[in-house]
Amino acid sequence: MDMVNVSEEHVNELLEAHAHVWNHMFSFIRSMSLKCAIDLGIPDIIQNHGKPMTESELMAALPTLNPTKACNIYRVMRILVHSGFFARQKLGDNVEEDGYVLTNSSRLLLNDNPLSVTPFLKSMLDPILMQPWHFLGTWFQNDDRTSFVTAHGLMIWDYCSHDPRMNNSFNEGMVSDARFVNRILIDKYRGGFEGLNSLVDVGGGTGTLGKAIADAFPHMECTVFDLPHVVAGLQDSGNLKYVAGDMFEQIPAADAVLLKWILHDWNDDECLKILKRCKEAISNGEEQRGKVIIIDMVLNNCEKVKDEARSLTETQLLFDMLMMVLTTGKERQEEEWAKLFLAAGFSGYKIVTILGVRSLIELYP
Ligand SMILES: C[S@@+](CC[C@H](N)C(=O)[O-])C[C@H]1O[C@@H](n2cnc3c(N)ncnc32)[C@H](O)[C@@H]1O
Repeated sequence: MDMVNVSEEHVNELLEAHAHVWNHMFSFIRSMSLKCAIDLGIPDIIQNHGKPMTESELMAALPTLNPTKACNIYRVMRILVHSGFFARQKLGDNVEEDGYVLTNSSRLLLNDNPLSVTPFLKSMLDPILMQPWHFLGTWFQNDDRTSFVTAHGLMIWDYCSHDPRMNNSFNEGMVSDARFVNRILIDKYRGGFEGLNSLVDVGGGTGTLGKAIADAFPHMECTVFDLPHVVAGLQDSGNLKYVAGDMFEQIPAADAVLLKWILHDWNDDECLKILKRCKEAISNGEEQRGKVIIIDMVLNNCEKVKDEARSLTETQLLFDMLMMVLTTGKERQEEEWAKLFLAAGFSGYKIVTILGVRSLIELYP
């Protein structure tokens, strides 16, 4: 293309390309604006107001706001209205003035919503987890296992074991996601748990999902298995117990092993080791029994994806990049999963699509 004398037709293309670059370049501002609204407690303030909240009511309700900056709040709100996190609604039938209301997306950010995504958002946008992104290019050229290691000198799990604040934030993020998944799982996958006398949630964090399953199925012995710094100090209760250990070494025996958001943290060789330990855990000596229940993404085939699935696929691709930066893992397409399962000696699997962007995979010995 002639860079000086561009034709009329090319000018439009040029401007479109330019706008595309700018939009992409500043994509991080979407998440940061949302984080700012959450840091200021705006979703909860609007919820507690109980009716559309005007600009001035919102400013007055933000107790820690520096008065000289209050006039800028509308700018944060404007971009979040634009991206669908808040909406504007008339204050009444005959009133011109309007106020902010929540949308389904911001309702998912309320502190007292049991399905709140806020702790997960806060942990993922923590500066410690954001910093490795600046090192992704460097990581491609060095010998470090992850970009997180390039930024912080340690694998993420070791880092968390040394930094109680990050450990807590990460675990809280996982807890909030486990609550979300648990709601859907206990409802839509009830039959999948029936008939199991014992279950071990491997890498089960602080036990949110394990506890929910233990409560829903009181006859089932549930074990939450995770690294010592995660389960330290957590109390067994009823049919729920905590076991500290390393899933690469040994996994406690049970009828079923749950792996929620575990395998996407690890590369194929590491996954093979984990899956072999899982197979041993559900096999009683020679007898082949039980199942492994995996909750992870099954990556859509990007080339074949239809328009309506584009946003879902993009979310999957974003997660895949997140796994590349933080861990040695990745998101996998069905063929990649199938190859892993076969290599680990499993005889079959079934994909259950009940979790939107993620799937549940049942794996049989
Ligand atoms: C992405 S989190 C998932 C937590 C939980 N399953 C959930 O989805 O909410 C991964 C978990 O694996 C645990 N983990 C990492 N390495 C482990 C190991 N070698 N043995 C056991 N657990 C491990 C981490 O401590 C963390 O709790």
